[in-house]
Amino acid sequence: MKINCLNPIASCGLEMLGDNYEITENTAEADAILVRSAVMHDMELPDSLLAVARAGAGVNNIPLEACAEKGIVVFNTPGANANGVKELTIAAMLLAARDIGGGIQWCRENKDNANIAKDAEKAKKNYAGTEIKGKKLGIIGLGAIGVLVANAANRLGMDVYGCDPYLSVEHALNMSRDVTMVKTNDELFEMCDYLTVHVPLLDSTKGMLNKETFSKMKDGVIILNFSRDTLVNEADMKEALASGKVGKYVVDFPNPNTVNMPNTIVTPHLGASTQESEDNCAKMAVHEIREFLENGNIKNSVNYPNCDAGVCPTESRVTIAHKNVPNMLSRFTSLFSKDGINIENMVNKSLGNFAYTILDICSDEVDGVAEELEAMDGVIRVRIIK
Ligand code: MLT
Repeated sequence: MKINCLNPIASCGLEMLGDNYEITENTAEADAILVRSAVMHDMELPDSLLAVARAGAGVNNIPLEACAEKGIVVFNTPGANANGVKELTIAAMLLAARDIGGGIQWCRENKDNANIAKDAEKAKKNYAGTEIKGKKLGIIGLGAIGVLVANAANRLGMDVYGCDPYLSVEHALNMSRDVTMVKTNDELFEMCDYLTVHVPLLDSTKGMLNKETFSKMKDGVIILNFSRDTLVNEADMKEALASGKVGKYVVDFPNPNTVNMPNTIVTPHLGASTQESEDNCAKMAVHEIREFLENGNIKNSVNYPNCDAGVCPTESRVTIAHKNVPNMLSRFTSLFSKDGINIENMVNKSLGNFAYTILDICSDEVDGVAEELEAMDGVIRVRIIK
């Protein structure tokens, strides 16, 4: 199998590929792609390509629908870099509460001042701040990162509130009981001193923080954005910062707008840039790719349903990526039954317009099966795994 890395991927992950894999520089011959931030929207997707794994959470750099239409399964690595992003979010809150940046700058500027120790005692009043303990923090989105931020802020003595209509059981179980859930973001806007956003960039979330939502917030609110820049309407944010409606904006995405806004602290997309996060993401991405290429199982896909049948116990495994439309399963099974072939296991799952079926069959006479299945209306891609 040939793997193409569009960005540097941590070597501890690549080492997990094993002997049956080779790294290729040539995207056109790749069976799978590993990617971090490279934008794939204008890329030609080669016919050989079976899977794309993003070593990270956000997938807005990948054409998910176009991949799904070609039967290319796209994975991400949810949670693998969550601790790195959580730690930077907490640091951001402290950077916003205290003028640590200004203080460091003052020390640098006074490096040749022999009286720096004495002068510092006078200068420090210019960099005084507030404490985060006892302040209200609102978390928009309680996925892997949001929950870690909630728990850490709670342990730092903040009064933590969260909103997530899609909260999973797993994340709910991992969250401190001291975190108060609210039903709408508006409730967070009305009462919180700090707001942090941890949702994916989708059509429905783009520009979700804007003039209208700022007007519902407390004066001087501090907003943290370690998710994606375009979740915020930047023209509206600039105005809100200039008027003091928003006291400070801490954002991990430099662009010509964010770097020119008043009262804004910008970092260069450092959220997941830790050795640990990069290693965790690379290992998870490689594991997902291997599981899919070798067993046909899907875990942590964002454009196909998760579908796991373990290791194939029979002579052959057939996997089918197809449209989520009626009569697909009956057509698949009748193809095997007409030849008297027993289906030992069958798993079928769907996600939106797409579905995926794994069939473990008691025969190794699979010649021609792929062609027959592929000829069926609604079938996108067939693989004979073994
Ligand atoms: C993510 O999407 O996981 C983060 O933005 C980090 C990254 O892209 O490297």
